[in-house]
Amino acid sequence: MGPDRDLGSPPPFVSTDPEAPAAQGFFVAFEGPEGAGKSSQVARLATRLRDQGFDPVVTREPGGSRAGERVRAVLLDPELRLEPLSELLLYAAARAQHVVELIAPALAAGRLVLTDRFRAASVAYQAYGRELDLRFVEALNERVTAGLKPNLTILLDLPPELGLARVAARGATDRLERADLAFHARVRQGFLAQAQHDPGRWRVIDARHDEARVADGIWEALEPALLAWRSG
Ligand SMILES: Nc1ncnc2c1ncn2[C@@H]1O[C@H](COP(=O)(O)OP(=O)(O)OP(=O)(O)O)[C@@H](O)[C@H]1O
Ligand SMILES: [Mg+2]
Repeated sequence: MGPDRDLGSPPPFVSTDPEAPAAQGFFVAFEGPEGAGKSSQVARLATRLRDQGFDPVVTREPGGSRAGERVRAVLLDPELRLEPLSELLLYAAARAQHVVELIAPALAAGRLVLTDRFRAASVAYQAYGRELDLRFVEALNERVTAGLKPNLTILLDLPPELGLARVAARGATDRLERADLAFHARVRQGFLAQAQHDPGRWRVIDARHDEARVADGIWEALEPALLAWRSG
């Protein structure tokens, strides 16, 4: 998974008022291979949402908590060689922290949460890509998220060579981006398989188009659900 080294400090934490009435947030995850445009599109969507009067909490994985950002640095360090199982467990550790510290409190406070990657990435990368046991990856995901699933997952889908070319144009590549093309093809299949398995919660967007067109596709996919949520 590609880093966003220019993002700077981790997102602010959300505190919740224990006296506040139970609220229902809305949770959107962005998934897809390297260079699909997740980070660009999360930023564009956040701007569009603010223009429409929404107040999204924007976060990312690995990361989203102070400990998680440190785990991120380990995961994305090209100097470190990690076993597939170690990699899986580090992502899981960051995710557990992310859910408890940031996502669950924000949703309980009724917030709209956007995350740049979440649980589906472990299925795609660690199970399909690294070929770890799928049931184990899913069980671990279920445990570290306490069963939390995004209301909607936006899959930015494109052929891996196109995403890798975009990332290469962006500059330095990290450890994961150097893995071979067959690995990336399995990752793509892993995302598509999840989307096909749960079409009610997934939206597949063709990420080969230019950024503005992809952004419009994402907005069309999200708007009805968001308006229903806001009026609900
Ligand atoms: N639709 C697009 N067409 C062409 N280039 C794009 C498009 N979307 C993003 N880019 C460019 O491709 C590069 C990768 O985009 P971005 O960082 O948003 O992808 P990402 O999915 O977050 O990647 P990573 O998995 O590495 O985090 C950036 O340089 C970005 O400006
Ligand atoms: Mg990114």
